[in-house]
Amino acid sequence: MKILMMSVRDDEKAAIEGWAKRNNIQVDTVNWELHPDHVSELVGYDGIVIQQRSKVEAEVYPALKAAGIKQITTRTAGFDVIDLDAARKNNLVVTNVPAYSPRSVAELALAHTMRLIRKLEIFDERAAKQDFRWAGLQAAEIHSLTVGIVGAGRIGGTTAKIFDALGAKVIAHDLVEREELKPFVTYMKKEEVLQKADVVCLHVDLNPSTFNLIGKDELALMKPTAYLVNECRGPVVDTDALIEALEQKK
Ligand SMILES: NC(=O)c1ccc[n+]([C@@H]2O[C@H](COP(=O)([O-])OP(=O)(O)OC[C@H]3O[C@@H](n4cnc5c(N)ncnc54)[C@H](O)[C@@H]3O)[C@@H](O)[C@H]2O)c1
Repeated sequence: MKILMMSVRDDEKAAIEGWAKRNNIQVDTVNWELHPDHVSELVGYDGIVIQQRSKVEAEVYPALKAAGIKQITTRTAGFDVIDLDAARKNNLVVTNVPAYSPRSVAELALAHTMRLIRKLEIFDERAAKQDFRWAGLQAAEIHSLTVGIVGAGRIGGTTAKIFDALGAKVIAHDLVEREELKPFVTYMKKEEVLQKADVVCLHVDLNPSTFNLIGKDELALMKPTAYLVNECRGPVVDTDALIEALEQKK
């Protein structure tokens, strides 16, 4: 079997080479993304492994089939860059990393929340200029906050447990209410979560039902003091509506 891994950074190569050696599989690496211009370079490989932000363009799927590729693996949880119908039509198996470090992403949500509630960006900017004024740096403590999770799946559920452990009140909205999360979260409608939360953490996967899930109407429901932490995909939030809400100091 021959595999080509794309978008590989230099610091990842040693681990990839070690894995290839242990498993006796040829894995070649390149630093570029999967685009139509590159397909001719894929002849002879059985599978490709990608990690990219831009969509795999329509003409790539038949070209991959013609090149003899049988599988596209994205080393991400979200697979929104891949058109599953086009892949299916070209007999390409698509796989992802279903549990992509839920703990790591949940801790990132915690870090971003701490940065906001402790006003660390302003604090650091001032400190760098030897400005040690306290004005405007009044911070909140986590136990006094209501944290709203939208999309309490693997990552969102882990975020919920971390905030619960720190003493926050955790509320959540998801299409599926998970029994195992009920000791940590109170489920409610999306609108209620947005109205009640001091911090809204987004953890849904990007799908047709979550595209622009947070738009003008949803932003209008949020407290004027609330923080929004998006740890999923950009298009889950309507960027224009967000900019408008920020400019209007809502
Ligand atoms: N920031 C990062 O570094 C990073 C890393 C990995 C994954 N991600 C993103 O996080 C996403 C979630 O990952 P996960 O492993 O928790 O996935 P998951 O499938 O376990 O959880 C997603 C949750 O969203 C819910 N959901 C889907 N549509 C919804 C809707 N319309 N309304 C309410 N809830 C809805 C699902 O029911 C599910 O519980 C990934 O798809 C990816 O986009 C980000």
